[in-house]
Amino acid sequence: MNETTFALKGTICFSESPTKLSVTENGYLVCENGVSAGVFTELPEKYQGIPCRDTNGCLIIPGLTDLHLHAPQYCFRATGMDLELLDWLNTITFPQESRYADLEYAKAAYSIFAEDMKKSATTRASIFATLHVAGTELLMDLMEETGLKTLIGKVNMDRNGPPTLQEESAGASARDTVTWLEETAGRYQNVKPILTPRFTPSCTDELMTKLAEIQQKYHLPVQSHLSENFGEIAWVKELCPNTRFYGEAYDQFGMFGGPDCPTIMAHCVHCPDEEIALMKERGVYVAHCSQSNTNLSSGIAPVRRYLDEGLHVGLGSDIAGGTTVSLLRAMADSVQTSKLRWRLVDDSQKPLSLEEVFYMATQGGGSFFGKVGSFDAGYEFDAVILDDANLPHPQPLTPKERLERLVYLSDDRNITGKYVSGNKIF
Ligand code: GUN
Ligand code: FE
Repeated sequence: MNETTFALKGTICFSESPTKLSVTENGYLVCENGVSAGVFTELPEKYQGIPCRDTNGCLIIPGLTDLHLHAPQYCFRATGMDLELLDWLNTITFPQESRYADLEYAKAAYSIFAEDMKKSATTRASIFATLHVAGTELLMDLMEETGLKTLIGKVNMDRNGPPTLQEESAGASARDTVTWLEETAGRYQNVKPILTPRFTPSCTDELMTKLAEIQQKYHLPVQSHLSENFGEIAWVKELCPNTRFYGEAYDQFGMFGGPDCPTIMAHCVHCPDEEIALMKERGVYVAHCSQSNTNLSSGIAPVRRYLDEGLHVGLGSDIAGGTTVSLLRAMADSVQTSKLRWRLVDDSQKPLSLEEVFYMATQGGGSFFGKVGSFDAGYEFDAVILDDANLPHPQPLTPKERLERLVYLSDDRNITGKYVSGNKIF
Protein backbone atom coordinates (compact mmCIF):
# COMPACT_ATOMS: atom_id res chain seq x y z
CA MET A 1 0.00 0.00 0.00
CA ASN A 2 1.63 3.27 -0.93
CA GLU A 3 1.14 6.62 0.72
CA THR A 4 -1.06 7.99 -2.04
CA THR A 5 -3.80 5.65 -0.84
CA PHE A 6 -6.43 7.35 1.31
CA ALA A 7 -10.18 7.52 1.88
CA LEU A 8 -12.86 10.16 2.21
CA LYS A 9 -15.81 9.31 4.46
CA GLY A 10 -19.23 10.89 4.01
CA THR A 11 -22.43 10.83 1.96
CA ILE A 12 -21.14 9.85 -1.45
CA CYS A 13 -23.17 10.79 -4.55
CA PHE A 14 -22.36 10.18 -8.19
CA SER A 15 -24.20 9.39 -11.41
CA GLU A 16 -24.79 5.72 -12.14
CA SER A 17 -26.39 6.82 -15.41
CA PRO A 18 -27.80 10.11 -16.78
CA THR A 19 -31.02 9.43 -14.89
CA LYS A 20 -29.80 7.61 -11.77
CA LEU A 21 -27.94 8.89 -8.76
CA SER A 22 -25.86 6.48 -6.68
CA VAL A 23 -25.97 7.42 -2.98
CA THR A 24 -23.95 5.82 -0.19
CA GLU A 25 -24.44 7.26 3.30
CA ASN A 26 -21.54 6.85 5.74
CA GLY A 27 -19.56 5.51 2.81
CA TYR A 28 -15.86 5.37 2.07
CA LEU A 29 -14.44 6.64 -1.21
CA VAL A 30 -10.97 5.20 -1.71
CA CYS A 31 -8.19 6.79 -3.77
CA GLU A 32 -5.23 4.76 -4.97
CA ASN A 33 -2.54 6.49 -7.02
CA GLY A 34 -4.83 9.28 -8.12
CA VAL A 35 -7.58 6.94 -9.23
CA SER A 36 -10.81 5.86 -7.53
CA ALA A 37 -10.77 2.34 -6.11
CA GLY A 38 -14.54 2.59 -5.63
CA VAL A 39 -17.14 3.40 -2.99
CA PHE A 40 -17.59 1.08 0.00
CA THR A 41 -20.05 0.87 2.89
CA GLU A 42 -17.28 -0.67 5.04
CA LEU A 43 -13.58 -0.12 4.44
CA PRO A 44 -12.30 -3.39 2.89
CA GLU A 45 -9.67 -5.38 4.77
CA LYS A 46 -6.84 -4.35 2.48
CA TYR A 47 -7.51 -0.66 3.10
CA GLN A 48 -7.63 -0.89 6.92
CA GLY A 49 -5.37 1.74 8.43
CA ILE A 50 -5.13 4.05 5.41
CA PRO A 51 -5.49 7.79 6.15
CA CYS A 52 -9.18 8.74 6.19
CA ARG A 53 -10.70 12.24 6.05
CA ASP A 54 -14.00 11.97 7.87
CA THR A 55 -16.29 14.74 6.59
CA ASN A 56 -18.95 14.10 9.24
CA GLY A 57 -21.70 13.33 6.79
CA CYS A 58 -20.89 16.01 4.21
CA LEU A 59 -21.82 15.28 0.61
CA ILE A 60 -18.92 14.03 -1.52
CA ILE A 61 -19.48 14.43 -5.27
CA PRO A 62 -17.26 14.06 -8.34
CA GLY A 63 -15.39 17.22 -9.34
CA LEU A 64 -17.29 19.32 -11.85
CA THR A 65 -16.21 20.03 -15.42
CA ASP A 66 -16.69 23.46 -16.99
CA LEU A 67 -16.63 22.79 -20.73
CA HIS A 68 -16.63 26.44 -21.77
CA LEU A 69 -15.48 29.72 -20.27
CA HIS A 70 -13.39 32.79 -21.10
CA ALA A 71 -10.76 33.62 -18.46
CA PRO A 72 -10.13 37.21 -19.69
CA GLN A 73 -13.81 37.99 -19.26
CA TYR A 74 -13.91 37.12 -15.56
CA CYS A 75 -13.11 40.59 -14.22
CA PHE A 76 -15.92 42.31 -16.11
CA ARG A 77 -18.53 39.63 -15.45
CA ALA A 78 -22.00 40.87 -14.52
CA THR A 79 -21.64 44.12 -16.50
CA GLY A 80 -23.16 44.90 -19.89
CA MET A 81 -25.85 42.32 -19.31
CA ASP A 82 -28.51 44.40 -21.06
CA LEU A 83 -26.90 43.68 -24.46
CA GLU A 84 -27.36 40.96 -27.03
CA LEU A 85 -24.40 38.80 -28.16
CA LEU A 86 -22.91 40.77 -31.07
CA ASP A 87 -23.34 44.19 -29.43
CA TRP A 88 -21.92 42.79 -26.20
CA LEU A 89 -18.88 41.44 -28.04
CA ASN A 90 -18.23 44.70 -29.86
CA THR A 91 -18.87 47.19 -27.11
CA ILE A 92 -17.73 45.34 -23.98
CA THR A 93 -15.85 42.13 -24.65
CA PHE A 94 -13.44 43.00 -27.44
CA PRO A 95 -12.26 46.28 -25.83
CA GLN A 96 -11.81 44.46 -22.52
CA GLU A 97 -9.87 41.57 -24.07
CA SER A 98 -7.59 44.13 -25.77
CA ARG A 99 -6.22 44.97 -22.33
CA TYR A 100 -4.45 41.58 -22.18
CA ALA A 101 -1.71 42.92 -24.47
CA ASP A 102 -0.48 44.46 -21.21
CA LEU A 103 1.14 41.70 -19.13
CA GLU A 104 0.82 43.62 -15.87
CA TYR A 105 -2.92 43.88 -16.43
CA ALA A 106 -3.11 40.24 -17.50
CA LYS A 107 -1.32 39.17 -14.35
CA ALA A 108 -3.63 41.12 -12.07
CA ALA A 109 -6.79 39.89 -13.83
CA TYR A 110 -5.79 36.27 -14.39
CA SER A 111 -4.61 35.93 -10.76
CA ILE A 112 -8.11 36.85 -9.59
CA PHE A 113 -9.60 34.33 -12.02
CA ALA A 114 -7.24 31.51 -11.01
CA GLU A 115 -7.86 32.09 -7.31
CA ASP A 116 -11.63 31.91 -7.73
CA MET A 117 -11.42 28.83 -9.97
CA LYS A 118 -9.37 27.13 -7.29
CA LYS A 119 -12.04 27.79 -4.65
CA SER A 120 -14.91 26.65 -6.90
CA ALA A 121 -16.31 23.13 -7.29
CA THR A 122 -14.68 22.91 -10.73
CA THR A 123 -11.87 20.40 -11.15
CA ARG A 124 -11.58 20.42 -14.97
CA ALA A 125 -12.18 23.20 -17.47
CA SER A 126 -11.76 24.11 -21.12
CA ILE A 127 -10.81 27.76 -21.23
CA PHE A 128 -10.47 30.52 -23.85
CA ALA A 129 -7.64 33.00 -23.22
CA THR A 130 -7.15 35.92 -25.68
CA LEU A 131 -5.20 36.19 -28.93
CA HIS A 132 -2.09 37.35 -27.00
CA VAL A 133 0.68 34.73 -26.71
CA ALA A 134 2.41 36.08 -23.60
CA GLY A 135 -0.86 36.62 -21.75
CA THR A 136 -2.04 33.12 -22.64
CA GLU A 137 1.20 31.61 -21.32
CA LEU A 138 0.79 33.59 -18.11
CA LEU A 139 -2.73 32.20 -17.70
CA MET A 140 -1.37 28.69 -18.24
CA ASP A 141 1.32 29.27 -15.57
CA LEU A 142 -1.27 30.51 -13.08
CA MET A 143 -3.75 27.70 -13.79
CA GLU A 144 -0.96 25.12 -13.49
CA GLU A 145 -0.40 26.30 -9.91
CA THR A 146 -4.06 25.82 -8.94
CA GLY A 147 -3.77 22.05 -9.47
CA LEU A 148 -6.93 21.99 -11.60
CA LYS A 149 -6.66 20.12 -14.90
CA THR A 150 -7.40 22.52 -17.71
CA LEU A 151 -7.31 22.92 -21.46
CA ILE A 152 -6.36 26.47 -22.40
CA GLY A 153 -6.47 28.04 -25.84
CA LYS A 154 -4.76 31.04 -27.35
CA VAL A 155 -7.62 32.56 -29.34
CA ASN A 156 -7.37 33.00 -33.11
CA MET A 157 -9.09 35.97 -34.76
CA ASP A 158 -7.96 37.61 -37.99
CA ARG A 159 -11.15 39.38 -39.11
CA ASN A 160 -14.04 41.50 -37.85
CA GLY A 161 -12.34 42.55 -34.63
CA PRO A 162 -11.48 46.10 -33.62
CA PRO A 163 -7.95 47.26 -34.54
CA THR A 164 -6.90 46.55 -30.93
CA LEU A 165 -8.08 42.93 -31.02
CA GLN A 166 -7.35 41.42 -34.38
CA GLU A 167 -4.32 39.56 -35.64
CA GLU A 168 -2.46 41.14 -38.55
CA SER A 169 -3.08 38.30 -41.00
CA ALA A 170 -3.86 34.60 -41.18
CA GLY A 171 -0.12 33.96 -41.40
CA ALA A 172 0.62 36.03 -38.28
CA SER A 173 -2.15 34.26 -36.35
CA ALA A 174 -0.86 30.82 -37.35
CA ARG A 175 2.75 31.79 -36.57
CA ASP A 176 1.77 33.04 -33.11
CA THR A 177 -0.12 29.80 -32.51
CA VAL A 178 2.94 27.71 -33.33
CA THR A 179 5.15 29.95 -31.15
CA TRP A 180 2.70 29.48 -28.28
CA LEU A 181 2.61 25.69 -28.75
CA GLU A 182 6.40 25.39 -29.01
CA GLU A 183 7.06 27.67 -26.03
CA THR A 184 4.69 25.79 -23.74
CA ALA A 185 5.42 22.21 -24.91
CA GLY A 186 6.34 20.01 -21.95
CA ARG A 187 6.05 22.89 -19.47
CA TYR A 188 3.00 21.68 -17.52
CA GLN A 189 1.55 18.74 -15.62
CA ASN A 190 -1.99 20.08 -15.38
CA VAL A 191 -2.47 22.32 -18.40
CA LYS A 192 -2.75 21.31 -22.03
CA PRO A 193 -3.31 23.42 -25.14
CA ILE A 194 -6.53 23.44 -27.13
CA LEU A 195 -6.87 25.03 -30.58
CA THR A 196 -9.30 27.96 -30.33
CA PRO A 197 -10.62 29.64 -33.48
CA ARG A 198 -12.94 32.12 -31.73
CA PHE A 199 -15.90 31.60 -34.08
CA THR A 200 -16.44 31.71 -37.82
CA PRO A 201 -16.97 35.51 -38.03
CA SER A 202 -13.50 35.98 -36.44
CA CYS A 203 -11.56 33.59 -38.71
CA THR A 204 -10.87 33.80 -42.45
CA ASP A 205 -10.84 30.66 -44.58
CA GLU A 206 -7.10 31.14 -44.99
CA LEU A 207 -6.64 31.08 -41.22
CA MET A 208 -8.90 28.03 -40.80
CA THR A 209 -6.85 26.18 -43.43
CA LYS A 210 -3.65 26.92 -41.51
CA LEU A 211 -5.21 26.01 -38.15
CA ALA A 212 -6.35 22.67 -39.56
CA GLU A 213 -2.72 21.88 -40.45
CA ILE A 214 -1.61 22.85 -36.94
CA GLN A 215 -4.40 20.75 -35.43
CA GLN A 216 -3.20 17.67 -37.27
CA LYS A 217 0.49 18.25 -36.70
CA TYR A 218 0.14 18.79 -32.95
CA HIS A 219 -2.87 16.45 -32.42
CA LEU A 220 -4.84 19.16 -30.67
CA PRO A 221 -8.43 19.18 -29.51
CA VAL A 222 -10.53 22.11 -30.78
CA GLN A 223 -13.01 24.47 -29.10
CA SER A 224 -15.24 27.12 -30.61
CA HIS A 225 -18.77 28.57 -30.68
CA LEU A 226 -21.69 27.22 -32.69
CA SER A 227 -25.25 28.34 -33.51
CA GLU A 228 -25.49 30.54 -30.44
CA ASN A 229 -27.60 33.55 -31.41
CA PHE A 230 -29.81 34.55 -34.37
CA GLY A 231 -27.68 37.58 -35.29
CA GLU A 232 -24.51 35.49 -35.28
CA ILE A 233 -26.07 32.65 -37.30
CA ALA A 234 -27.35 35.06 -39.98
CA TRP A 235 -23.85 36.59 -40.19
CA VAL A 236 -22.22 33.19 -40.68
CA LYS A 237 -24.69 32.44 -43.47
CA GLU A 238 -23.57 35.63 -45.23
CA LEU A 239 -19.89 34.92 -44.66
CA CYS A 240 -20.08 31.28 -45.80
CA PRO A 241 -22.58 31.10 -48.67
CA ASN A 242 -21.08 27.73 -49.65
CA THR A 243 -22.21 26.02 -46.43
CA ARG A 244 -25.61 24.47 -45.70
CA PHE A 245 -25.36 25.11 -41.96
CA TYR A 246 -22.99 26.76 -39.47
CA GLY A 247 -21.24 23.55 -38.43
CA GLU A 248 -20.08 23.05 -42.00
CA ALA A 249 -18.01 26.22 -41.69
CA TYR A 250 -15.81 24.21 -39.28
CA ASP A 251 -16.34 20.84 -40.86
CA GLN A 252 -15.09 21.95 -44.29
CA PHE A 253 -11.68 22.41 -42.65
CA GLY A 254 -11.82 19.11 -40.77
CA MET A 255 -12.31 20.79 -37.40
CA PHE A 256 -15.66 19.42 -36.31
CA GLY A 257 -15.04 16.31 -34.24
CA GLY A 258 -14.13 12.83 -35.40
CA PRO A 259 -11.58 10.47 -33.84
CA ASP A 260 -8.59 12.71 -34.61
CA CYS A 261 -10.16 16.00 -33.65
CA PRO A 262 -11.97 15.97 -30.28
CA THR A 263 -14.14 19.08 -30.40
CA ILE A 264 -16.19 21.18 -27.98
CA MET A 265 -18.80 23.48 -29.48
CA ALA A 266 -20.29 25.99 -27.08
CA HIS A 267 -24.00 26.83 -27.04
CA CYS A 268 -25.65 24.91 -29.93
CA VAL A 269 -28.89 26.75 -29.23
CA HIS A 270 -30.34 26.85 -32.75
CA CYS A 271 -28.85 23.85 -34.58
CA PRO A 272 -30.77 22.57 -37.60
CA ASP A 273 -31.40 18.82 -37.89
CA GLU A 274 -28.46 18.22 -40.25
CA GLU A 275 -26.09 19.98 -37.87
CA ILE A 276 -27.26 17.85 -34.95
CA ALA A 277 -26.86 14.70 -37.05
CA LEU A 278 -23.28 15.68 -37.94
CA MET A 279 -22.42 16.51 -34.30
CA LYS A 280 -23.70 13.10 -33.31
CA GLU A 281 -21.78 11.33 -36.07
CA ARG A 282 -18.55 13.14 -35.16
CA GLY A 283 -18.90 12.91 -31.38
CA VAL A 284 -18.80 16.70 -31.00
CA TYR A 285 -19.28 17.77 -27.37
CA VAL A 286 -22.00 20.33 -26.72
CA ALA A 287 -21.11 22.83 -23.97
CA HIS A 288 -24.52 23.89 -22.70
CA CYS A 289 -24.29 27.42 -21.27
CA SER A 290 -27.77 28.12 -20.01
CA GLN A 291 -27.13 31.33 -18.10
CA SER A 292 -25.16 32.93 -20.92
CA ASN A 293 -27.90 32.02 -23.38
CA THR A 294 -30.36 33.89 -21.17
CA ASN A 295 -28.12 36.91 -20.51
CA LEU A 296 -27.25 37.43 -24.19
CA SER A 297 -30.81 36.77 -25.45
CA SER A 298 -29.59 33.75 -27.38
CA GLY A 299 -32.36 31.30 -26.52
CA ILE A 300 -32.73 27.92 -24.84
CA ALA A 301 -30.80 24.98 -26.25
CA PRO A 302 -32.77 21.77 -26.91
CA VAL A 303 -30.78 19.76 -24.38
CA ARG A 304 -33.50 17.16 -23.89
CA ARG A 305 -33.23 16.34 -27.58
CA TYR A 306 -29.43 16.15 -27.42
CA LEU A 307 -29.62 13.71 -24.50
CA ASP A 308 -32.32 11.62 -26.19
CA GLU A 309 -30.25 11.43 -29.38
CA GLY A 310 -27.15 10.40 -27.45
CA LEU A 311 -24.98 13.47 -28.06
CA HIS A 312 -22.23 14.31 -25.59
CA VAL A 313 -23.44 17.20 -23.45
CA GLY A 314 -21.59 18.99 -20.66
CA LEU A 315 -22.15 22.30 -18.90
CA GLY A 316 -20.32 25.57 -19.39
CA SER A 317 -20.35 28.72 -17.28
CA ASP A 318 -19.39 30.76 -20.36
CA ILE A 319 -17.86 33.49 -18.23
CA ALA A 320 -18.72 36.33 -18.94
CA GLY A 321 -21.83 35.61 -20.99
CA GLY A 322 -22.55 33.81 -17.72
CA THR A 323 -21.77 35.72 -14.54
CA THR A 324 -20.46 32.98 -12.25
CA VAL A 325 -17.96 30.13 -12.41
CA SER A 326 -20.28 28.11 -10.17
CA LEU A 327 -21.30 24.92 -11.93
CA LEU A 328 -23.78 24.30 -9.13
CA ARG A 329 -25.51 27.41 -10.40
CA ALA A 330 -25.12 26.20 -14.00
CA MET A 331 -26.97 23.01 -13.03
CA ALA A 332 -29.84 24.98 -11.47
CA ASP A 333 -29.97 27.37 -14.45
CA SER A 334 -30.14 24.42 -16.84
CA VAL A 335 -33.13 22.95 -15.04
CA GLN A 336 -34.85 26.33 -14.92
CA THR A 337 -34.43 27.22 -18.58
CA SER A 338 -35.43 23.70 -19.63
CA LYS A 339 -38.69 24.24 -17.78
CA LEU A 340 -39.30 27.48 -19.65
CA ARG A 341 -38.49 25.75 -22.93
CA TRP A 342 -41.00 23.03 -22.10
CA ARG A 343 -43.64 25.58 -21.11
CA LEU A 344 -43.10 28.13 -23.88
CA VAL A 345 -41.41 26.41 -26.82
CA ASP A 346 -42.06 22.67 -27.02
CA ASP A 347 -44.13 20.77 -24.47
CA SER A 348 -43.08 17.45 -25.97
CA GLN A 349 -39.56 17.99 -24.56
CA LYS A 350 -39.82 17.47 -20.85
CA PRO A 351 -37.65 19.56 -18.52
CA LEU A 352 -34.26 18.35 -17.28
CA SER A 353 -34.08 16.61 -13.91
CA LEU A 354 -31.57 17.14 -11.12
CA GLU A 355 -30.05 13.76 -12.00
CA GLU A 356 -29.57 14.80 -15.63
CA VAL A 357 -27.92 18.15 -14.96
CA PHE A 358 -25.73 16.52 -12.30
CA TYR A 359 -24.66 13.94 -14.87
CA MET A 360 -23.86 16.67 -17.43
CA ALA A 361 -21.76 18.60 -14.89
CA THR A 362 -19.81 15.47 -13.90
CA GLN A 363 -19.46 12.62 -16.42
CA GLY A 364 -21.16 14.36 -19.35
CA GLY A 365 -18.46 17.01 -19.65
CA GLY A 366 -15.82 15.10 -17.70
CA SER A 367 -15.54 12.39 -20.32
CA PHE A 368 -13.90 14.92 -22.66
CA PHE A 369 -10.92 14.60 -20.26
CA GLY A 370 -10.94 10.78 -20.18
CA LYS A 371 -12.21 8.65 -17.29
CA VAL A 372 -13.50 11.63 -15.34
CA GLY A 373 -16.72 12.44 -13.51
CA SER A 374 -17.58 9.18 -11.73
CA PHE A 375 -16.45 7.34 -8.61
CA ASP A 376 -16.54 3.92 -10.27
CA ALA A 377 -13.21 2.14 -9.86
CA GLY A 378 -10.69 3.31 -12.42
CA TYR A 379 -11.92 6.90 -12.72
CA GLU A 380 -9.59 9.80 -11.94
CA PHE A 381 -10.03 10.76 -8.31
CA ASP A 382 -11.65 14.19 -8.74
CA ALA A 383 -13.83 14.88 -5.71
CA VAL A 384 -15.56 17.82 -4.06
CA ILE A 385 -16.81 18.01 -0.47
CA LEU A 386 -20.00 19.99 0.10
CA ASP A 387 -20.81 20.93 3.71
CA ASP A 388 -24.44 21.92 4.29
CA ALA A 389 -24.21 22.29 8.07
CA ASN A 390 -24.95 26.02 7.66
CA LEU A 391 -28.30 25.17 6.06
CA PRO A 392 -30.21 23.80 9.05
CA HIS A 393 -33.59 22.11 8.69
CA PRO A 394 -35.94 20.71 11.35
CA GLN A 395 -37.38 18.12 8.93
CA PRO A 396 -35.47 15.11 7.63
CA LEU A 397 -33.91 15.43 4.16
CA THR A 398 -32.74 12.66 1.88
CA PRO A 399 -29.22 12.92 0.41
CA LYS A 400 -30.79 13.78 -2.95
CA GLU A 401 -32.76 16.62 -1.35
CA ARG A 402 -29.58 17.88 0.32
CA LEU A 403 -27.80 17.79 -3.03
CA GLU A 404 -30.65 19.62 -4.74
CA ARG A 405 -30.54 22.37 -2.10
CA LEU A 406 -26.80 22.76 -2.49
CA VAL A 407 -27.25 22.98 -6.27
CA TYR A 408 -30.06 25.51 -6.15
CA LEU A 409 -28.50 27.67 -3.42
CA SER A 410 -25.09 27.38 -5.16
CA ASP A 411 -23.11 29.06 -2.44
CA ASP A 412 -19.31 28.78 -2.64
CA ARG A 413 -19.13 28.75 1.14
CA ASN A 414 -20.50 25.21 1.13
CA ILE A 415 -17.47 23.92 -0.81
CA THR A 416 -15.05 22.72 1.85
CA GLY A 417 -12.76 20.27 0.06
CA LYS A 418 -11.48 19.47 -3.42
CA TYR A 419 -9.22 16.80 -4.95
CA VAL A 420 -7.96 16.50 -8.53
CA SER A 421 -6.48 13.18 -9.65
CA GLY A 422 -5.96 12.38 -5.98
CA ASN A 423 -4.16 15.64 -5.20
CA LYS A 424 -5.68 17.63 -2.37
CA ILE A 425 -6.40 21.21 -3.50
CA PHE A 426 -7.95 22.14 -0.11
N1 GUN B 1 -18.84 34.12 -29.78
C1 GUN B 1 -17.63 34.60 -30.11
N2 GUN B 1 -16.96 35.05 -29.04
C2 GUN B 1 -17.76 34.86 -27.99
C3 GUN B 1 -17.63 35.12 -26.60
O1 GUN B 1 -16.62 35.65 -26.12
N3 GUN B 1 -18.69 34.77 -25.82
C4 GUN B 1 -19.82 34.20 -26.33
N4 GUN B 1 -20.81 33.89 -25.51
N5 GUN B 1 -19.97 33.97 -27.63
C5 GUN B 1 -18.96 34.29 -28.45
FE1 FE C 1 -18.15 31.65 -25.11
